[in-house]
Amino acid sequence: MDCDLDLAVQREQLERAGQAHLLRFWDELNEAERAELLGDLSGCHFAEIMCFFGRALQVPAPLQQQPPQMDEQMEPVPREVQGSVTRDQERLPEWEAEGLLQISENKVAVLLLAGGQGTRLGVTYPKGMYNVGLLSRKTLFQIQAERILKLQQLASAQFGHKCTIPWYIMTSGRTMESTEEFFAKNSYFGLQKGNVIFFQQGMLPAMTFDGKAILEGKSKISMAPDGNGGLYRALRNQKIVEDMEKRGIGFIHVYCVDNILVKVADPTFIGFCVKQQADCGAKVVEKTNPTEAVGVVCQVNGLYQVVEYSEITLVTAQRRNADGRLTFNAGNICNHFFTLQFLKNIVKDYEPKLRHHVAQKKIPYIDDHGQQIKPDSPNGIKLEKFVFDIFQFSRKFVVFEVLREDEFSPLKNADSQNGKDTPTTARHALMSLHHRWVLNAGGHFVDENGTRIPAIPSSTTRMSEAVAAVVNDNLQELTDVPIKCEISALVSYAGEGLDKYVAGRDFRPPLIIDEKGVQELTANGL
Ligand code: UD1
Repeated sequence: MDCDLDLAVQREQLERAGQAHLLRFWDELNEAERAELLGDLSGCHFAEIMCFFGRALQVPAPLQQQPPQMDEQMEPVPREVQGSVTRDQERLPEWEAEGLLQISENKVAVLLLAGGQGTRLGVTYPKGMYNVGLLSRKTLFQIQAERILKLQQLASAQFGHKCTIPWYIMTSGRTMESTEEFFAKNSYFGLQKGNVIFFQQGMLPAMTFDGKAILEGKSKISMAPDGNGGLYRALRNQKIVEDMEKRGIGFIHVYCVDNILVKVADPTFIGFCVKQQADCGAKVVEKTNPTEAVGVVCQVNGLYQVVEYSEITLVTAQRRNADGRLTFNAGNICNHFFTLQFLKNIVKDYEPKLRHHVAQKKIPYIDDHGQQIKPDSPNGIKLEKFVFDIFQFSRKFVVFEVLREDEFSPLKNADSQNGKDTPTTARHALMSLHHRWVLNAGGHFVDENGTRIPAIPSSTTRMSEAVAAVVNDNLQELTDVPIKCEISALVSYAGEGLDKYVAGRDFRPPLIIDEKGVQELTANGL
């Protein structure tokens, strides 16, 4: 009876929104399937979705298909809004101290974007649960949790009172349950349960080019998360901003799940943004390869934004300055700083004004005969907002450039697909960083004959720009044969405090330094 009532209401609403085709298999469905379809339908507010669809399609489609006017309006980020770990070395201690002070006063929160589906990596579970094959077998979630724990300890020790960095984790309909279960099963990796706050972003149906929602099965609508910019709607709907306010948070570090080197709540980045009195900031690495899949932070028509790798023309991506560097080289690593006040303004006033981006996709569907089809070419679109869409509303926007080798190695693809951004490159990048930490703290590695293994460049800071560019380009090669070395974040957040473990000592890899101390493992121990 209820089902009949629901059906009548739904049918009328769907007809009004031009979506009545979603019920075309109704008579063939059993009770469970009918309930499933009604469940999907109740999560779709088609009047609103058709509005999103109409507005999104008013926006120019991907720039590749547009006349190049947009490219002409792109300008690189001016030097005066930039901070840099290489060019501003002398100011780093001051910024770090400011960040630690804010952390110690419980003013800093971190927010993890973990609602993506990990399609390219090809796993069916959330990416944060992925074990990249480190010596410790830690997952991305555990690595990040331990960095938060360590930073709390460092700030508490420096200022003499306990402090907390709350961790907000945005999941989606696809990742919520498994993520929460994983954290519970692992006792929140030592963090207090009440300081790990899960919330869920929205989902939207995939649509055909003429605005019809797509059925992936007779009783199932093809749904996907509404993009990482779905964050702002979720912050409002789930009262996360209020929670931050109650806790007295002033500054939020937002980051994506897949970068194994991410400096969660990085005090230097936070301190830099706070000292510049910025309301919004982005961490970047130098983009050196024009076709690398990173967005570029820039200005378009005088407003800050990220032009995504899927939206920039090749000609513009390849533009170079007289010194040989790419003109648009501020590579977005999805690490953002916001003040709470800025987020409050976004959530209240600006989020509804953001238009969705349109991604053309090959979307599996069910045809009129009930056959499941996997199309060979794009047959529809997904609507997504992007987390950086709000940069344009910033009153004071800053950019902080860091070294790729220290801070950016994302996990995007499976090992089998290609050599870039895979579990292997992520694992190697972390081991290579930790190798350099050991060397910088006065330790050495020896081979099986006891001969010292030559050092690799410790950072590009002391090199000329030309040499630095070559090192960046060759980094992949260097990390292909890393020394197996892993340092727990519970021991060191960014290479500090290692002297007492390693100074003047020779180690035969594999080496782990964790809360149990120094462990030289035998190859068999792996
Ligand atoms: C993202 C950036 C890109 C940057 C690159 C660096 C965006 C839109 N693009 O691209 O500019 O150069 O990282 O690695 O930020 N996510 C959600 N909900 C969603 C979709 C994604 O929470 O609906 C999360 C993912 O779980 C991930 C993050 O957002 O943590 C980035 O998503 P991903 O699809 O990996 O972005 P990229 O295309 O790699």
